[in-house]
Amino acid sequence: MNVLVTGGTGYIGSHTCVELINAGHKPIVLDNLCNSNPESLNRVREITGEEVPFIEGDVCNEKLLHEIFSRHSIDCVIHFAGLKAVGESVAKPLEYYQNNLGSTMSLCRVMGAHNVKKIIFSSSATVYSGDNEMPLRETSKTGNCTNPYGWTKYMCEQILRDVAKADPEWSVVLLRYFNPVGAHKSGLIGEHPNGIPNNLMPYISQTAIGKRDHLSVYGNDYDTPDGTGVRDYIHVVDLARGHVAAANYMMNHKGESVFNLGTGHGYSVLDMVHAFEEANGVKVPYEIAPRRPGDLATCYADPTKSREVLGWGAEFNQVDMCRDTWNWQSKNPNGYDE
Ligand code: NAD
Ligand code: UD1
Repeated sequence: MNVLVTGGTGYIGSHTCVELINAGHKPIVLDNLCNSNPESLNRVREITGEEVPFIEGDVCNEKLLHEIFSRHSIDCVIHFAGLKAVGESVAKPLEYYQNNLGSTMSLCRVMGAHNVKKIIFSSSATVYSGDNEMPLRETSKTGNCTNPYGWTKYMCEQILRDVAKADPEWSVVLLRYFNPVGAHKSGLIGEHPNGIPNNLMPYISQTAIGKRDHLSVYGNDYDTPDGTGVRDYIHVVDLARGHVAAANYMMNHKGESVFNLGTGHGYSVLDMVHAFEEANGVKVPYEIAPRRPGDLATCYADPTKSREVLGWGAEFNQVDMCRDTWNWQSKNPNGYDE
């Protein structure tokens, strides 16, 4: 099938292009490069031998979207494009609501006009309310988000749910990602955050390579086995394959569906630090720091529904995640910049 991949030059999008091609599909990428580098698609070509058509532009630009849907025969859309930095969303809420909600609404409007009514949306475990019991199921309570980024995901889910309700021809799949980490095993594509990383894995790998002096471990007094925060880290290639499974599912299912993409296993911050050191033979100096506001002690998925309905499950383990992160980091210390 022909798949329009918005945000396809980014971290998860580029890995998903590889997995779509491996499964015999044809991705077309639309990205405004506000948080990515088009070199990622040259690397996708190196990995797969396939050229991915790339359109530089904004998903909020409906005129451009009409041109794309007129020119290309598109079967479904995977909508990764979005702003995703939690701290920045607190400082610039309007930019986040404008970009993340605006792009989703423009996309749906134009898709509907061209009778393309199949969309997969990048949601997040952040939509779950903080007072749920673990593991999180798709039916667990949502809302009470702690920042504008989280609310954009919550609101986009609602918008898409309403679109599917209003017109039964739509197929909407909401994928709630847990903590994506790792990189393609070739080390050709991976994650390169701008500036100081907010997320744990990029911070660990930049510390190991000497770009950062030490990792601050945000809190060691949580109610967890070693006192540090526990998360469900998932290899980005597993996550990408989850999109291929969801695209196949959408071909025969209408209406709205929601799936967790996680492994079901929780690892603490110190588990990840030690696993990274062991897998790669490197040192990750760390210091215990105060808790980060808004953090939960523990967050992990129940992936049963994805396994039973999509036939998808994570195949890579913690060692794979650590090894592949380091392979990418050490081969591309400055990301795609050189
Ligand atoms: P990313 O920043 O690497 O990729 C997002 C891409 O979207 C970037 O290439 C950016 O240039 C593009 N983009 C943003 N706004 C755009 C617009 N208006 N028009 C065109 N392109 C635009 O991020 P990622 O980690 O690959 O995340 C992909 C999606 O998954 C995002 O929606 C993100 O919120 C969601 N998500 C990510 C994580 C994570 O930890 N990485 C977790 C949960 C959900
Ligand atoms: C964070 C976001 C979440 C987003 C997700 C994307 C917050 C509050 N939540 O989730 O909305 O969807 O990223 O992947 O920002 N840690 C350290 N030191 C660091 C960085 C992190 O100790 O320098 C700890 C955190 O306290 C946490 C764990 O590592 O316990 C994972 O943190 P992170 O990678 O930021 O992910 P989340 O907090 O799960």
